[in-house]
Amino acid sequence: MCGIIGYTGNEDVREVLLDALELLEYRGYDSAGIAMEEEDAQETTVCKCAGRVRDLRQICTAEKSRRGCGIGHTRWATHGGVSDANAHPHRVGRVTLVHNGIIENYRELIRDYELEGALHSETDSEVAAALLDRFYDGEPVEALKQTVSKLKGTFALVVMFSDHRGVIYSTRNVSPIVATVSKQGGMLASDLTALCRFTSRYFVVPEYHVLELREDSVKLTDFDGKTVEPEYLKVDWELNSSGKNGYPFYMEKEIMEQPEAIIRTIENRVKGGMPDFSMDGVPDSLFTDCERICIIACGTAMHAGLVAQALVKSILHMHIEVEMASEFMYSDPVIDSGTLVIAVSQSGETIDTLEAVKYAKRRGARCLSVINVKGSSIARESDYVIYTNAGPEIAVASTKAYTTQLAVFYLIVARMAHSRGIFSAEETQSFIRELQRTPEVMEKVLKNRRDIHLMAKKVLGAKDLFMIGRGLDHSILLEGSLKLKEVSYIHSEAYASGELKHGPIALITADTPVVAAVTQDKLMSKELSNIREVASRGADVAVFIKESLAKGLEGEFALFALPDMRNEFMVMPASVALQLLAYYVSSDKGFDVDKPRNLAKVVTVE
Ligand code: F6R
Repeated sequence: MCGIIGYTGNEDVREVLLDALELLEYRGYDSAGIAMEEEDAQETTVCKCAGRVRDLRQICTAEKSRRGCGIGHTRWATHGGVSDANAHPHRVGRVTLVHNGIIENYRELIRDYELEGALHSETDSEVAAALLDRFYDGEPVEALKQTVSKLKGTFALVVMFSDHRGVIYSTRNVSPIVATVSKQGGMLASDLTALCRFTSRYFVVPEYHVLELREDSVKLTDFDGKTVEPEYLKVDWELNSSGKNGYPFYMEKEIMEQPEAIIRTIENRVKGGMPDFSMDGVPDSLFTDCERICIIACGTAMHAGLVAQALVKSILHMHIEVEMASEFMYSDPVIDSGTLVIAVSQSGETIDTLEAVKYAKRRGARCLSVINVKGSSIARESDYVIYTNAGPEIAVASTKAYTTQLAVFYLIVARMAHSRGIFSAEETQSFIRELQRTPEVMEKVLKNRRDIHLMAKKVLGAKDLFMIGRGLDHSILLEGSLKLKEVSYIHSEAYASGELKHGPIALITADTPVVAAVTQDKLMSKELSNIREVASRGADVAVFIKESLAKGLEGEFALFALPDMRNEFMVMPASVALQLLAYYVSSDKGFDVDKPRNLAKVVTVE
């Protein structure tokens, strides 16, 4: 969702801002803009437009390049349509502002402070700029505090005051801002991707504090006026690991990176063949003292939770629920001090998951999070964190984040099974050995990706499609189906195949291709019957099947054979195959695979 950048320093400010906005494009956006201090006057120039950063670049060329101070924004529309006027920055009087989040009470603020006449857009953000200008009498920090005290909702505000040259101000609630000072100057952003080019040191601006960023210094004060030392963290992502590395799209690159990513996830968490979370500081008591588990997450991360649910039930025989984070707080969840809450998130910023974690903690639960982005909001809010170490995931469609989340869950389940006396040491080691085979098995699927490309041709022209399977296969397909619909815009539904006869089979025709997964030995014969039911109604069926189960079926269906693993682990090769299917359909249709329409990589509004 909205991306924010601010820069004050020696380099050409226009270029720094535009380059950084390009790095933030992956978050998903529909318009972009920058504001820069004018060279000789206490004025600010604003350039903004609906469209891409490349469109913005074109309209900014008239601006003289210069060193100095500026802010930039990529907007993902929430309040007000996609238009030049609604793009940020918003300038009202001496205030120029960009905003990420939602100001829930913006209508009341317009009414109570009679701001209507100051507004030129339909956005909630411009209301914050107008209010700030109303309170501003030359003292930025006081005006910001007063403004924030009137705002309801989530926000990261980044502001320039035309009479305070060279300084960028920021304050926030929930929506994150990271900042740094390096030899090139002071820089802040909505996420680390934009800062990596400058430095590997950064700090997170704490909520309800005011940051004053200058080219060579930062000042951080809380709302009582007390100075606070920034807590610097280190990014351990290599700068070039966020490039495309010769691939046409990040999604393909990230799919291909999965074997390495899994190795990074597990290598330091296996000692003597046993799962070990000492590097994460996660004690065994977390796993032995809980009576039930509740996984909270959204989208793909929630699908990883569904696989974990199947493992917990079949191996640990424990009570477990997987909750959509956006529904969690409103569903009267059964959460108490006996509940281990596991939050799963690639970005660590998904606001629904973050709010759900806060809620669960208020109810006395202990919270472990499985996160990719270091130091992110959910990581900071949790009692314990296990980082997936997938490296930067830039494509909107999540791939390596998902499989590394699964890898963490295999480790957790094995550790729990051993610490709860369910697995012997030998059983635990054998389970972990299978996990360690995953990278080589994934490599085999990746090597045969041409065959998946051929399968993709089968579904290319479809408007609607079903994915069917039972048990773990159904969980795998929920994720495969989400992947396909988000990047190819084909309407795809994953259905438990036994449930098909209770309604949806009415939709099966020769125009409705069916993708099936058959990876679980004990479910195979029932799954095959269900596949034959749709085939006999004319559906063209493509089957992703465990290699050892494929014998004798070659002539009957289009098959892609998945290398054999223990049943619990078949989700790994199957997921890679389904990600490739979605990728090829999207790229063959000529879509911008990495930036599907309407979607944002980081979902920071509820
Ligand atoms: C789909 C996808 C989304 C995310 C979801 C949660 O490919 O990426 O469904 O999984 O928005 O995001 P995180 O994991 O950042 O909390």
